[in-house]
Amino acid sequence: MDWIQKLRDSHKDFEKGNIATVFGENPFDEFIKWFDEANVKNELEPNACSLSTVSPGSLKVSSRIVYLKELRDSEFVFYTNYGSQKGTDLKENPLAALLFFWPGLERQIRIEGIVQKIPALESDAYFESRPRQSQLSAWASNQSEKLNQREDLISRLEALNSQFPEKVPRPPHWGGYALKPNTIEFWQGRPSRLHDRCCYEFIDGKWINYRKNP
Ligand SMILES: Cc1cc2nc3c(=O)[nH]c(=O)nc-3n(C[C@H](O)[C@H](O)[C@H](O)COP(=O)(O)O)c2cc1C
Repeated sequence: MDWIQKLRDSHKDFEKGNIATVFGENPFDEFIKWFDEANVKNELEPNACSLSTVSPGSLKVSSRIVYLKELRDSEFVFYTNYGSQKGTDLKENPLAALLFFWPGLERQIRIEGIVQKIPALESDAYFESRPRQSQLSAWASNQSEKLNQREDLISRLEALNSQFPEKVPRPPHWGGYALKPNTIEFWQGRPSRLHDRCCYEFIDGKWINYRKNP
């Protein structure tokens, strides 16, 4: 190795989870409990999570942040451009993973499962609730395509502003996906690297849970 860049390493210990974490039977109840706590404790971006997809041909994995917008029944919903890289991956390979990291609480949640588009009417309803500028941007941005210059995007936006002087309809290439999980893992940092990991798996129509070594 010619050179090595040492990154700052504080050897941080985790201290928030200093009492045994108790996990209930239903992972969605646990998720809501932790999500509420992330809000109460003012985590900066509690809805932001990493979404990983795998491209079907090359099996290349890619991750990016999306906002979790809804948790309904047993599904995690986010919105995006169906023609984006993630959309192209998910069309052929619906297996995906979401990852939340809430550093203030020293917690992460790993969610794995199968993604499908939500019904168009539900995407319509959510799109309608968005600010006008975001609605126009959903039309203007060919998400994940190469962009020659930023001015192209701005001029498309201006043209769209005139094209839709009042209501902006939802672009057909934009909408929600729901991830139906088959595995959810809750991780609570604890002192001396003896962290709590509680893993939920959906097997034969019901959720089972067990702990894993940290
Ligand atoms: C905090 C944050 C929130 C984001 N939320 C979304 C989102 O909800 N939907 C989305 O399509 N992109 C969102 N993005 C942008 C994505 O990370 C990504 O750049 C974009 O979706 C293109 O990804 P792709 O080319 O892999 O498909 C967000 C980025 C950040 C940093």
